[in-house]
Amino acid sequence: MSKKVLMKKIGVLCSGGDGPGMNAAVRAVVRAGLSNGLKVEGIMRGYQGLIDNDLIDMNRCSVSGIIGRGGTIIKTARSPEFRTEAGQRKAVNILKKHKIDGLVVVGGDGSYLGASELYNKWGIPAVGIPGTIDNDLHGTDQTIGCNTAINTAVEAIDKIRDTAHSMERIFIVEVMGNRSGYIAMEVALSSGAEDVVVPEAKPDYKEMCGRITQGARKGKISWIIVVSEGVIKASVLAETITNMTGLETRSVVLGHVQRGGNPCAFDRILSTRLGVAAVEELIKGNYGNAIGVIQNKINIIPLADAKKRLNDIYQERYRLINMLR
Ligand code: F6P
Repeated sequence: MSKKVLMKKIGVLCSGGDGPGMNAAVRAVVRAGLSNGLKVEGIMRGYQGLIDNDLIDMNRCSVSGIIGRGGTIIKTARSPEFRTEAGQRKAVNILKKHKIDGLVVVGGDGSYLGASELYNKWGIPAVGIPGTIDNDLHGTDQTIGCNTAINTAVEAIDKIRDTAHSMERIFIVEVMGNRSGYIAMEVALSSGAEDVVVPEAKPDYKEMCGRITQGARKGKISWIIVVSEGVIKASVLAETITNMTGLETRSVVLGHVQRGGNPCAFDRILSTRLGVAAVEELIKGNYGNAIGVIQNKINIIPLADAKKRLNDIYQERYRLINMLR
């Protein structure tokens, strides 16, 4: 554990896939920093921008009007170079050159790993806040952007449902989530989907098609099946279902649509609370931690413990989807 550093200047960066609410987090970090008498640097394009010395001085106006905007004004990236010892050394030298005393990293598990190495290997006071739509990190009930991404997908499925119903078709809708079926489960439950395919459970397509055929016999021909990316391509599942049931099936990949758009109020509030808490932790001298919210209270755990979380809602949600289809 490094000793307490008097914070005079902090940096903020976003890393990995963007998510709605990252701007609100950046705004909170910048304004909380300024309100506490600190200087704040925005680091462009995540760790890569740090290595490339791409930093901008932030003031209150730099973050005006962004609380409700999707994406991130300081941009985000994945940096293979930062995974190397040489890349990290360059990044640390840039932080020292700019006299940055503390760093707030907004990102997912890869970004947390980077922040953890900056702290544990290089002694840089760093803290992380969970910025990923996947909701796959320990130490927080929700990650920034997940709620908005779910709402975006549900809105799209409501529209798909209209055409599915009118033309009596089956639709396979692929959603993001990386290796977690969290988004898929919540989207399936809240859109009234008839089935869901997630990485947490071995899919049984034969059984699924049996249910579809049985339903068709009773006159139910329109289905929505939500698939989490990576398990099976939506187009392949559509073809499988058509072949096994003889029913017309279409596929839609929602993809990056889920990462864009204005953050919902929930994500703005979460981002704002986390951004302020991150600055306060740096000022207090608590480094190397991931900041989250559990049961509506700020929760702090070591970055090293905040990695990949399993989708623990799977069984409960699946029971409901099964019962209500
Ligand atoms: O981790 C966020 C995420 O959106 C995942 O859900 C998805 O698998 C991945 O990023 C997509 O990454 P990219 O934008 O590089 O295609």
